[in-house]
Amino acid sequence: MDRDYVLGTHNEELARLGLQHRVWRPVVLDCWQKAGITVGKRVLDVGAGPGNATVDLAEIVGPTGEVVALERSQNFIRAMEQTCHARSLANVNIHQLDLMTDELPSGDYDFSWCRWVMSFVNDPGLLIKKLSGALRKGSLAIFHEYGHYETWHFFPRLANQERFREHVIATWRESGGEPDGAVALATLLPANGFTIRSARPHLFCVRPTEYMWQWPATFIETYLPRLIEMGRIDQQFADKVRADLASAEKNPNALMITPLVLEIVAEKIS
Ligand SMILES: C[S@@+](CC[C@H](N)C(=O)[O-])C[C@H]1O[C@@H](n2cnc3c(N)ncnc32)[C@H](O)[C@@H]1O
Repeated sequence: MDRDYVLGTHNEELARLGLQHRVWRPVVLDCWQKAGITVGKRVLDVGAGPGNATVDLAEIVGPTGEVVALERSQNFIRAMEQTCHARSLANVNIHQLDLMTDELPSGDYDFSWCRWVMSFVNDPGLLIKKLSGALRKGSLAIFHEYGHYETWHFFPRLANQERFREHVIATWRESGGEPDGAVALATLLPANGFTIRSARPHLFCVRPTEYMWQWPATFIETYLPRLIEMGRIDQQFADKVRADLASAEKNPNALMITPLVLEIVAEKIS
């Protein structure tokens, strides 16, 4: 069982990652296009999960390009293999490995893509050092990582959601991660031969009818049972969080500020 990843690798999490990717897809496609990902490029997908971004990248770079996907979870790898097969993608090379203990496969990569992975590795410095070793001079490392998770709020405020968010942060830290994974990049990238070419925030203020609302809402739904399993909360608290969310969803004037994500593009310069 893939027990060592705090969010889990069960099928509900697999489905949640799919929804999360669909919600973020316009932002991500725009980012990749601005960075220069196109036909024939070679991309390293670091911590690819079930490969939602991987397959989009593979379709963009086409048969003359390649995507090398790195992931530890067997369940996610299986899902990625099935999707690649279903979409007849022959340009995805999947490696099952642990980013902390294994070598990254070398290749003449033009880009690396790393999203929501820095928050979960216990030594982000080691990951950036390995990435630096795998990328050649002139290639671009692209990150989408949390910059300030505590921006996540509902208006009118929901006290139980704010307590839930604190449990999330605490459990990610207890599992050896740091939710605001982007923060360390400003130091780690220059220390490992990169220079930051662009950095921009992605923060949304959404209403219940907007698709983006579903991203944090489904996270609440999948992570409540995890918190119960971990012994951090009881069923009664989970029910309160669900009831608060349901009442916000019935209020057409409710607003949600999403967790801040930073998009960082860095060039390998030495
Ligand atoms: C939140 S998911 C993001 C997945 C994907 N990047 C995306 O944006 O959909 C984090 C992923 O990192 C993987 N991961 C975390 N620590 C890892 C490690 N040490 N080695 C390999 N994969 C790891 C998890 O298995 C999971 O698939």
